[in-house]
Amino acid sequence: NAVVFVAVTFAGLVRLWVGEPVSVRRPLHFNYTEAHPSTVAALGGAKRRGRPVPAGRTARVSLVLIMPKSDYNRRIGVFQVTAEAIAPNGDTITTSSQPCMLRFRSLPVRLMRTCLMGIPLLMGICTESQKVTMEVLRYKETGRRTEAIRVRLKPRAGTTDLPQLYAAEIFMTSQLPWGKELVYNWKWSFYVWTSLYMYIMLLISIAG
Ligand SMILES: *[C@@H]1O[C@H](CO)[C@@H](O)[C@H](O)[C@H]1NC(C)=O
Repeated sequence: NAVVFVAVTFAGLVRLWVGEPVSVRRPLHFNYTEAHPSTVAALGGAKRRGRPVPAGRTARVSLVLIMPKSDYNRRIGVFQVTAEAIAPNGDTITTSSQPCMLRFRSLPVRLMRTCLMGIPLLMGICTESQKVTMEVLRYKETGRRTEAIRVRLKPRAGTTDLPQLYAAEIFMTSQLPWGKELVYNWKWSFYVWTSLYMYIMLLISIAG
């Protein structure tokens, strides 16, 4: 019983020390009445003390776009995605801008797919949309906490056409420092082995 108690206490302490890697998912609703549709995803209230990512950790923000594989989107081709991390006072902590487009599939491949998947497509089992995932931000969280993430779509130079979207969301995760990361990923084996080790030590000390 002492062993169980020690093991549980130990596991609790380790948990406290490691903390949880944060992961926050927020749907995005772009405002398509703007020339450059933008959206702000508030992260506040996501985690304890209103701070989604603790200071000193690396935050990674990924953007997921679900786009119809329409002729329109294919014609638009590439467009620009801008992402900003915003501090509570409205300042920009960091910003990034990168191009994005539907993954290319040539006409024969598309026709072939439509032939093969005809029945499932009609039955709605598979869809004619494409999920584009990209990492838009990666930065170290400092004293200024990230209040929100702003994402903006911009058409490619010389055009005003914007891609059609079904849905969009951002996914924010914080990486633990590597030591903690290791313990977190291996926490069960870590607990088991440490408990076993303690148990054996206890047995030896009792026997001796
Ligand atoms: C969308 O953008 C327009 C033009 O800037 C603005 O008037 C409107 O309030 C915005 N709508 C939302 C829901 O943010």
